[in-house]
Amino acid sequence: MRIMILQGHNKPHSTLSGLCGHFTTLFEGHGADVDLFCVHAQPLPLMEEGATYDADPHVAQLKASMKAADAIVLTSPEYHGSVSGALKNALDFLWPEFSGKPVMLAAVSGGVLPHGSLDHMAGIVRTLHGVLSPEVVGLGRGTKELDASGAPVEDKTRDRVAKACAALVELTRKLSA
Ligand SMILES: Cc1cc2nc3c(=O)[nH]c(=O)nc-3n(C[C@H](O)[C@H](O)[C@H](O)COP(=O)(O)O)c2cc1C
Repeated sequence: MRIMILQGHNKPHSTLSGLCGHFTTLFEGHGADVDLFCVHAQPLPLMEEGATYDADPHVAQLKASMKAADAIVLTSPEYHGSVSGALKNALDFLWPEFSGKPVMLAAVSGGVLPHGSLDHMAGIVRTLHGVLSPEVVGLGRGTKELDASGAPVEDKTRDRVAKACAALVELTRKLSA
């Protein structure tokens, strides 16, 4: 099983980058291979409708990794009650890559919970014919402290993250059976 994690934070060090490292450890513990694509480390051009991007190495890598994935994890910081512009721009390069694939959502806010980004990512996934995994990860004030490995320090949050990752693996196995 190959799982693609799309990292939607647009800064070098963030709660999401640590958390995505923890997701990777958990998914690998379930026997999955993990690909990561970070919109900050692998910047993309601003998508122009109708233009071709065959020569852009980051666009090519994003599309190839998404196409090869059996399951996808979308992650975003909460920006103005929605997803980051950098994540939305990355998603604008994709469409058939999502069809029929299970998708887990994860978001981090400065406030208590990242409701807007989770809701808006869910709408995008439905539009792209992805299959939403039943468990999401939403971290905010009071729950987003991570240890050096990227695992949430709060027990309940760490358990919830583990359950969400296990749910994505289970859904992916069921859909490919
Ligand atoms: C442009 C911008 C808009 C933001 N909008 C919100 C918001 O609407 N709600 C919120 O809770 N946090 C908001 N934040 C805070 C971010 O969610 C927070 O900085 C991000 O999750 C990164 O957190 P980290 O420093 O723990 O990595 C915003 C931050 C920026 C830069």
